[in-house]
Amino acid sequence: MKNIRLLYINLILGTILMACEYNVENEDVKVDDQCEAEVSYSNTLSPLINVNCMPCHNGDGSYPLAPDLRTYGAVESLAGLIKEVTQSRRMPKNGNLTNAEISAIKCWVDQGAMNN
Ligand code: HEC
Repeated sequence: MKNIRLLYINLILGTILMACEYNVENEDVKVDDQCEAEVSYSNTLSPLINVNCMPCHNGDGSYPLAPDLRTYGAVESLAGLIKEVTQSRRMPKNGNLTNAEISAIKCWVDQGAMNN
């Protein structure tokens, strides 16, 4: 009897897990995981941060623990951490980046976080 209950619990958990896996966003932008194209700070990174991170990382004190990301210097000095928190999808808090955007951040950091 106990085993049958366990079996049902496993079936339900399995179904939930599978439902989550199929819930992957469809991307129309191609994800360049090999980082073949150079990612530009001014054309790609800065606008991406302005839209997705500025609500909290604007240094106005509303989110005192959120580092100010308004300048290239600030973003560059936190590049490794920014890559990490977007790869793990911890950031943006209350938001979402597409796989292509996450990949662009990773590539920009791996290419040396240039002011390009
Ligand atoms: C809704 C508000 C909000 C948004 C949007 C947001 N953040 Fe944050 N972020 C925070 C807060 C608050 C913290 C302070 C630490 C915590 O709560 O995790 C933080 C911390 C961080 C840190 C420091 C990591 C650490 O371990 O403390 C980094 C790096 C970061 N955010 C990057 C980003 C990036 C990049 C984006 C945009 C893609 C972003 N955040 C969007 C609120 C936000």
